[in-house]
Amino acid sequence: MEKRLIFGFAIYVLGACNLTDKQHTDALATIDSLKTNLASAYTPGFGDVMRNNIQIEHEKLWYAASESNWLLAEHSLESLESGFKNLKHWKGDDPRAKFLDMIMPSAEAVSVSLKQKDLSAFKKKYAVLTNTCNACHRSTGYQYIVIKVPTGDHYGNQEFKIK
Ligand code: HEC
Repeated sequence: MEKRLIFGFAIYVLGACNLTDKQHTDALATIDSLKTNLASAYTPGFGDVMRNNIQIEHEKLWYAASESNWLLAEHSLESLESGFKNLKHWKGDDPRAKFLDMIMPSAEAVSVSLKQKDLSAFKKKYAVLTNTCNACHRSTGYQYIVIKVPTGDHYGNQEFKIK
């Protein structure tokens, strides 16, 4: 996408008529510096997205659904799914990315249980989702990162129960 933008910009600048040699050289220099900026632009790493998005939403999803707060649970699940999609987009070339899609069927099954407002189905599907997290960690050499169904009262600053 970004490469296409630069390419389009280059065509536009270089194709514009009546460019002096100096303008032409300046335009090429601008394109070069844009390329350098893009190459060093920050994109979050695998661990960042796992920790700052996926781990959080996995936990919040549990607390929201456990309180039958279906809308909040769907909100968390969508954000969790976006985390996986973003990782695929940002880190598609990383060899570990080929395992990302394995989460989608279990996330979809959780989504169905939320739409049906079925707490007991949710708990079963959530367990499968959690096992899938760990299956991927084992496949990618991170067997020591073990995800479990949350226990205790975390996120004590957010209301999960709608009165
Ligand atoms: C591609 C398959 C894959 C799937 C599916 C997956 N993970 Fe991960 N996860 C990884 C990899 C790879 C790492 C190590 C990333 C790194 O540190 O570079 C990781 C790291 C983590 C970490 C540690 C982050 C840290 O602090 O460094 C947590 C927490 C985590 N994953 C949570 C989850 C949860 C929760 C799920 C399921 C909802 C999940 N992961 C599903 C591949 C996956």
